[in-house]
Amino acid sequence: MSSSSSNNSSKNRVMVTGGAGFIGSHTVVELIGAGYEPIIVDDFSNSQRSVLEGLEAILGRKIPCHAIDCNDTDALRFVFESEGPIKGVIHFAAFKAVGDSVARPLAYYRNNVGSLISLMEAMQQFDVRDLVFSSSCTVYGQPDLLPVTEETPCKPAVSPYGHTKQICESIIGDAVRAKLPLRTAVLRYFNPIGAHPSGRIGELPLGPPENLAPVITQSAAGLRDQITVFGNDYETPDGTNIRDYIHVVDLALAHVKSLQWLDSQDTAPMREVFNLGVGSGSSVLEVIAAFERASGMSLQYSVGERRAGDAEKIYANVDKAERMLHWKAERSMEEAMRDAWNWQLALARE
Ligand code: WQD
Repeated sequence: MSSSSSNNSSKNRVMVTGGAGFIGSHTVVELIGAGYEPIIVDDFSNSQRSVLEGLEAILGRKIPCHAIDCNDTDALRFVFESEGPIKGVIHFAAFKAVGDSVARPLAYYRNNVGSLISLMEAMQQFDVRDLVFSSSCTVYGQPDLLPVTEETPCKPAVSPYGHTKQICESIIGDAVRAKLPLRTAVLRYFNPIGAHPSGRIGELPLGPPENLAPVITQSAAGLRDQITVFGNDYETPDGTNIRDYIHVVDLALAHVKSLQWLDSQDTAPMREVFNLGVGSGSSVLEVIAAFERASGMSLQYSVGERRAGDAEKIYANVDKAERMLHWKAERSMEEAMRDAWNWQLALARE
C-alpha cells in the first residue's frame, strides 16, 4: 500500500521507518509539531494500521504512509524517489523483543541488520545524509558501574536483539570511518513507557506483552492474570530489578532535537551516540506503586522466578543529551502511568 497526500516542496521531509510503531508514532506527532513533514514507512509486521487513524485524530491530517519492508530495496527506493527530496531518516523499523529474539535469532538478524544496510544504501543513492538511529541500552549488557555514560564499555550482548543493535551501531561507525557522507545520531533508549495524553496512540503489543508497563495496564484492566514480579532477590533496595523508565513523549521529542542538531553540524561524516533516559532508576515495585497512585487502583502481584537475560539494574547518565541536544526528560513516572492507563481505557472503549 502506498499513499502519499503530501506536497513535495517541503524542505523538511523526513522518512520515519517503523513510524506506525510505539515510539515511531509518537515521534511523528512531535515532528509535525516542529514543522517537519514525516513520511511513514512501515510493513505493519509489529504495528497496526489503526495507528494511522490515531495519528489523524491527533494531527487533523493524514500522514503519507508506505506499507513496505525496508529490506525490499526496490520498494524503498521507490519511496525515496516518489516522496523526495528527503531531508533525513529516523530508522525505528526493527524487531525489539528480547525473549522473542532468543527464539528467532535469524529473523532478528535478517530484519534488524538487513533493513539498516538496505536503508543506508538507498540513502547513498539519493544523497540523503542525516540518519537518526534507534538503538538501545541493551548494548551495554549488565554494566559494572552506574549510571552508564555513552563511554561505558558495551559488554557482550545477552540477547540476539541486543547484539543486532551492537552490530548496527558498528555498521554506522564503519560507514562514517569510510567517509560515506552521513551525519548520524545513535540514540540508546532506556525503557520507554506511557502514551500520548490524547489517548489516541500508545503502546500496542500484538499478542501477550513482555514489557512491564503494558503488563500492568492489562492486568489492571482485567485482561490478564495478576502481575508476576520476576524475582525479588536482587541486590537492590526492595529486591526487584531497576530500570530507567522514560515517557515516550519525552523520547519522541529527543528525536526532533537530534534531527535539528544534525542539521546544525557541518557536512563532515559523523556518528554521535546519546543515552536517552531520565537519569535515575526505578524498581519494578516502584513502577507498580506509581501506577496505583496515578490510577487510584490497588494491584495484586505475585513474585516469581527471575527472567533469563534480565540485567539487575541499569540507568543512564543523560548529561550529554542535555548538553549537546538541549534536551531533558520532563515527564514523571506518575504522568507516564496516568497516560498509559488512559490509553488502556481508550482501547477498552473501541
Ligand atoms: C522491565 C522490568 C523485568 C514484566 C526493554 C525492552 C528492550 C529495551 C530495554 C529498547 C524487568 C520486570 C517485566 C513482567 C516483571 N528497550 N518485569 N514482570 O527487559 O528492561 O527491556 O527495555 O530497546 O527492547 O524490552 O523491559 O519492560 O520487559 O522489563 O517483573 O511481567 O520489569 O524483570 O526488570 P526490559 P521490560
